[in-house]
Amino acid sequence: MDQIKIRGGEKLNGTIEISGSKNAALPIIVASLLTHKKVIIRRVPDLADVRTILELLTFFGAKLNIQSGIGGKVIEIRNERIINNKAPYELVRKMRASVLVLGALLARCGEAMVSLPGGCAIGTRPIDIHLKALEKLGAKISLEDGYVKAEAPKGLTGSVINMPKVSVGATENLMMAAVHAKGETVLHNAAKEPEIFELGCFLNSMGSRVSGMGTDKIIINGIKELSETDFTVVNDRIEAGTYAIAAAITGGKIRLEGVNIEHLGSLFNILSKTGVSIIKDNSSVLISRDRSILPVDIITEPYPGFPTDMQAQMMAFLSLGEGTSKITENIFENRFMHIPELTRMGADITQVGSTATVNGVRKLKGAPVMATDLRASVSLVLAGLAAHGETVISRIYHLDRGYENLVFKLTNCGADIKRVAGV
Ligand code: EPZ
Repeated sequence: MDQIKIRGGEKLNGTIEISGSKNAALPIIVASLLTHKKVIIRRVPDLADVRTILELLTFFGAKLNIQSGIGGKVIEIRNERIINNKAPYELVRKMRASVLVLGALLARCGEAMVSLPGGCAIGTRPIDIHLKALEKLGAKISLEDGYVKAEAPKGLTGSVINMPKVSVGATENLMMAAVHAKGETVLHNAAKEPEIFELGCFLNSMGSRVSGMGTDKIIINGIKELSETDFTVVNDRIEAGTYAIAAAITGGKIRLEGVNIEHLGSLFNILSKTGVSIIKDNSSVLISRDRSILPVDIITEPYPGFPTDMQAQMMAFLSLGEGTSKITENIFENRFMHIPELTRMGADITQVGSTATVNGVRKLKGAPVMATDLRASVSLVLAGLAAHGETVISRIYHLDRGYENLVFKLTNCGADIKRVAGV
């Protein structure tokens, strides 16, 4: 398996173009199942997770035409006929977001079988909210040999659904399932992430009638036919936040191009409190740090709160803080797998339950470390960029799931980082 080698200590300076959002592109690609007409999606990042979801759609019968375009891939998808509506374990286990096909397949062909996704490194990640809500729309749900079987031979019927917990995936699944349902569906306690807003815009670009996306109450009025569409994916707020921390942790200065600044309010608010300079300029932002890192307390929450997907990156940054910071992870039950790895690099972090106490140290030391999940792996890259000496990160296939051209982007800003072929 490939590794990444970093010789830390360089202050990063330069410009980074932010790619299209992984977590917006995935549900949008899935939503193409809702129509037999041509769908064009632009600025799609070239990531392992995107390749997995496209592999799954091809398995269902999709015809794809993929070109390189401005800022990412241009993907033309035609789901003229669904020849298979069973998502196999070997694909679903690679990426939990595959469970999003449940709602779309149910809406399109009245039946779907999706392997239970299983947990992952950051938690059990059940799908009970997805399933109970689909039943509210009239789906018959059963479990067979590790597969979820959803049936609605007469179609789905709109309903009022109170989501017991904010769930990004369940909100997306239900939005797609409700597109062809008879009548109106109301989702209360819906997730408000920008990726939900984008999915709603995508569905409406095909003629759907979705309103309230980005608020906690989303209304979907079902329609029979959708039209073709040509849609551009929003930029990745988590990638942008990650590279903002790359600038901050090395004490450099990086201009991030193509940033939706309003999507990063809570992160930028926290970074400002640590002493990081953030200069906003339309769709770009200049991040720099020329003073010590002040400690700060963080609690991860659903959007617009502090994003759980930035928790590991902030922990690496605060490991070099001047004082003690507390980080509470409220979204996933096991999203602290990066703590032992950062500790190997000299960080002083203790965990009690869902709260990690980070006692800042003067320096981190390069070491061999192991990636365990997508955001933990990038927190090790960030720590390696600031550490004295060499850091070797193994199992970097986790990184390939969510960061397009990471080595290239960081090298361009002066990082001494390279990818070495598997040992
Ligand atoms: C999405 O995952 C993102 N993935 C995650 O990003 C992100 O961390 C998460 O939302 C929270 O923002 C994609 O968009 C592809 P949830 P999702 O349903 O939809 C519990 C990354 O790094 N829950 O909002 O799976 C669940 O266990 C990834 O890019 C249930 O209990 O997250 C978790 O504790 C990681 N039952 C909480 O809700 C359910 O039926 C939030 O999960 C569904 C979820």
